[in-house]
Amino acid sequence: MLVMVAWAGRVSGAEPNYDESKVPAYKLPDPLICEDGTPVRNRRDWERRRRPELLWLFEEHVYGRAPTAPPGMWFERAGEDAYALGGRATRREVTLWLRGDRGGPKMDLLLYLPRGRRGPVPVFLGLNFMGNHTVHPDPGIRITTAWVPNDRAGTVVSNRATAASRGWAASRWPVERILERGYGLVTAYCGDLEPDHPEGWKLGVRAALSPDGTNHVFRPDEWGAIAAWAWGLSRAMDYLEGDRDVDARRVVLIGHSRLGKTALWAGARDRRFAIVISNESGEGGAALTRRRYGERIADLNRRFPHWFCGRYKSYDDREDDLPVDAHELIALMAPRPVYIGSAVEDRWADPRGEFLAGVHAEPVYRLYGLEGLGVTEWPPVGRSVGRYIGYHVREGRHDLTAWDWERYLDFADRHLRGR
Ligand code: GCU
Repeated sequence: MLVMVAWAGRVSGAEPNYDESKVPAYKLPDPLICEDGTPVRNRRDWERRRRPELLWLFEEHVYGRAPTAPPGMWFERAGEDAYALGGRATRREVTLWLRGDRGGPKMDLLLYLPRGRRGPVPVFLGLNFMGNHTVHPDPGIRITTAWVPNDRAGTVVSNRATAASRGWAASRWPVERILERGYGLVTAYCGDLEPDHPEGWKLGVRAALSPDGTNHVFRPDEWGAIAAWAWGLSRAMDYLEGDRDVDARRVVLIGHSRLGKTALWAGARDRRFAIVISNESGEGGAALTRRRYGERIADLNRRFPHWFCGRYKSYDDREDDLPVDAHELIALMAPRPVYIGSAVEDRWADPRGEFLAGVHAEPVYRLYGLEGLGVTEWPPVGRSVGRYIGYHVREGRHDLTAWDWERYLDFADRHLRGR
């Protein structure tokens, strides 16, 4: 039993708390009070003072600071098929040369755009975990050449992707359904920006964009992998702004789990994203850290030391000293709509803590005269609630499912198409 618990949750240290009665009393930082004690009275105070201050605090203590876009970045059309998926879509592949030179880092974007579209379409944009070729069995998708977590072809385990992994993640990317609902899908592999392991930064943008390359020694406030992935989402947006088939004012950012944390941070920093969706992002994402339910800061730092900035390590078992909490990350989306999806069996991510972050982000939406969640009670399993802050907790486990997608498509329809 002990072995099981260690496998499912912590690698070492105390067992996670899954008992609501053991959640300690906690006091959240007030999103409407500046660090010097000045209250935020209106939108102007929020936009001019508190919002920049919160962004700064999240950079300084949680995700780390990222550089601006490199000046020489350019895009190259790498493939196009106007009759992909049996004639349902245009499949477009574009390479973003992030530093300008072909020896530098690159990010491969995969776009599916609905056929029969009239004019630019709204799109969902999200990073994937294992390569673009894993989101759909479509044999036309180029197989990633970047480092991947073990790709098993027969008995061989390798960090080079093979055709064996085509469509592996297809259940998380209902491409045909997204197209049918009138949206395009844009995705890229997070490993193009940084392979997801502690030494991965040496193969990614954090080394490539640093003057001292792989010898770089990170200051406590410099970017971690999540900030690097989020930075890449903004570079994808740079491209989308120039693609005539995409409506760049209607880009819905979506991410699952660690990539949900990433979507939230990218959406907080970059207001070009129209809607932000966090699917089960948990600790370090939408879940209130002060609840100490399920995963905690110490778990993240121990298992994924590369995800957050150096200073975040000083908050192990010191949640109350962190100057921010997840409700303020959600509030940074305001007045844009944000949706938080949880799953009832995903206790590690603290579904209720994710809901409460939405509740406590509401005062900021009210500054804009907008209704956030509109409820304070955790809704029953399977019911979607909320206006500008959407929320659901569905049956089942940690995953991104077709059911989640239907809720996100409905939410996008309401806000982007007045349906
Ligand atoms: C681990 C990690 C979570 C993360 C998840 C995922 O469970 O502890 O913080 O969200 O992986 O990305 O799937």
